[in-house]
Amino acid sequence: MPIKTTKNGWILETRTVGYAFNVNDSGRLEHTYWGVRLPLDTDYPAPRNLKGWVSFSGPGHLTPEEYPAYGGVNYVEPCLKLHFADGVRDSVLQFISAEVRDGEAALDIHLHDSDYPLHVVLHYRVHADYDLIERSVRVINDGKTPVTLERVLSAQWHLPALGEYRLSHVSGRWADEFQLQREPLTVGVKTLESRRLTTSHHANPWFAIDRGQADEYQGGVWFGVLEWSGNWKLLAEVTDFGSTRVSLGLNDWDFAWQLAPAETFKTPVSYAGYTPDGFGAASRTLHRFTRAEVLPHKDTIHKVLYNSWEATLFDVDVKSQSKLAEIAAALGVELFVMDDGWFHGRKDDEAGLGDWWPDAKKFPNGLKPLIDKVQALGMTFGLWVEPEMVNPDSDLYRAHPDWVIHFPTRKRTVARNQLILNFARTDVQDYILDKLDKLLAENAIAFIKWDMNRNVSEPGWPNAPGDPRELWVRYVQGLYRVWGTLRERHPDVIWQSCSGGGGRADLGILRLADQIWVSDNTEATARLAIQEGFSHIFPANTMEAWVTDADAAHVPLEFRMHVSMCGSLGIGGDLLKWTADERKIAAGCVALYKQIRHIVQFGDVYRLRSAAHAFSALMYVASDQTEGVLFAFRTHIAEPVSLPPVYLRGLQADALYEVEGITGTRSGAAWMHAGLTLQIGNMASTVRRIWKR
Ligand code: GLA
Repeated sequence: MPIKTTKNGWILETRTVGYAFNVNDSGRLEHTYWGVRLPLDTDYPAPRNLKGWVSFSGPGHLTPEEYPAYGGVNYVEPCLKLHFADGVRDSVLQFISAEVRDGEAALDIHLHDSDYPLHVVLHYRVHADYDLIERSVRVINDGKTPVTLERVLSAQWHLPALGEYRLSHVSGRWADEFQLQREPLTVGVKTLESRRLTTSHHANPWFAIDRGQADEYQGGVWFGVLEWSGNWKLLAEVTDFGSTRVSLGLNDWDFAWQLAPAETFKTPVSYAGYTPDGFGAASRTLHRFTRAEVLPHKDTIHKVLYNSWEATLFDVDVKSQSKLAEIAAALGVELFVMDDGWFHGRKDDEAGLGDWWPDAKKFPNGLKPLIDKVQALGMTFGLWVEPEMVNPDSDLYRAHPDWVIHFPTRKRTVARNQLILNFARTDVQDYILDKLDKLLAENAIAFIKWDMNRNVSEPGWPNAPGDPRELWVRYVQGLYRVWGTLRERHPDVIWQSCSGGGGRADLGILRLADQIWVSDNTEATARLAIQEGFSHIFPANTMEAWVTDADAAHVPLEFRMHVSMCGSLGIGGDLLKWTADERKIAAGCVALYKQIRHIVQFGDVYRLRSAAHAFSALMYVASDQTEGVLFAFRTHIAEPVSLPPVYLRGLQADALYEVEGITGTRSGAAWMHAGLTLQIGNMASTVRRIWKR
């Protein structure tokens, strides 16, 4: 049983992980254990029942509570902060009952405020096979007056007390996403968050915490994510009593929610896990779960796509796209995607957003002639849209200037000449749903790239039915509704989430999008680090990577192709300018990619040498360990140099394997422990297939 009820407590067990908490002597839900699964139920520690520290810190301040609410002599970060209609601003949550639902591997803990009709349900679910625990919370107003929610986080995850820890997270900005950061956690609170309306390029709701000594292959790592595509907050706190915890959930910044009588507020879900086997194992756990349980098209191999953006920018028409499509098809491309510029009035980035029908000048006969051409070339057709946006110069904005997020008394700040439609409004949702549904119903569109090219300003919602600060959450719920409905109506379409590159990458969007456009930075050498950071969280099949001309002057095409082949391969260069030689190299790489992509897209990744080194390597191994593929990259290292050995990973130690280009069959143990040496020059790369014999 993944969930066991003990005396006053619960043990949640996955294949290898145990997680335990109790109702302690003072009635608090005290976290007692998170780590390697223990053999006996009696092995799990008893609650410590700490009493507080003189008159200045009460028991709540010292107790690692599963879900602390603001209240009492307690100043640690709470998960819940609200106020009641009579002005009372704290809550005193008491344990009422627990409900174990074995069939769902779920546990609901019911808490109730001691004096007010407020019901809080802590929901746990054990994903035993994936070694993950899921948490979310429901707050129910059982009273007759509204309650204003000011903070409702999804979970507080507790690490073993009195440890010295290091936090890994990703930071970034546009064209520079997913940069891995590692820093010690010291007393106080480290905050990571988004206030931008979306997940953001700047940080990601993911953490990995170790004791400062873990590496890719060994050492305990506690890690987690939040499944949400809007404002989020992560608080990594070390209390003044040496307790380390990570609180994760919706951002409470500028947030409020009017919870009317009988209504329920449900938080997004947070997933977390523990592994004794280092950062690599933590990533692979998240990847396996995401592939199997989150992604909409779980078993679909992603096609090699061509995207016309960097070749034609806004200058799209049947002629220009057809020329590119012909060359793309000859290279082995399977999906042709027309990017921005195809819709009504879209001559540049100053007009058109909002008017989602083909521009009559560029496409006088609609999209059909181009789609027919693409299909005749043996490819499927994809299209770019940016549904949440509107240019002031558009029919939509002229008709509904009140549909954007704004404060009526303020100037509306445009960014890239666009404003944001208020997706919290159902009339806006319905309009966009209708237009996109029509587009998909009338055209043979196999793929949609859903973009979002700015972040919020003047976050007003005039005439909001509740508190206007509900915008942050209702916008995302509206987005999920529109996208989810389109998915249901057009189940075969493959979707890509883009927000000026990787500005909206999270497990929430991956329930709708099959893949993520990782970054607008397509320079291969920059991509190595971006892709490595991305790989800590997301699986390779979600990592759309194009080869473009951005760094063609100093990086060989083969190197650029190899970098993109580490994910879901795409091409985005101006093919008309590619020489016959370049086309031959590209076609060869596309053909190779088609042979290895099932391993890349569905296999396990091992980061062998970080992209922080000028000589880096990674490999993918099929889940049955019968085959793999090794990628190695050398940027610039001054000669003379002996490249360090590469030690393979993830093979069966006693099975025999062959590595392409290296004579002789050796045991998995030999490849993993004696390693192999690669000879590659500056700005060169290699792809080696690995076979079990
Ligand atoms: C964003 C995307 C690009 C491209 C442009 C089109 O910047 O990230 O890939 O689609 O918009 O305007």
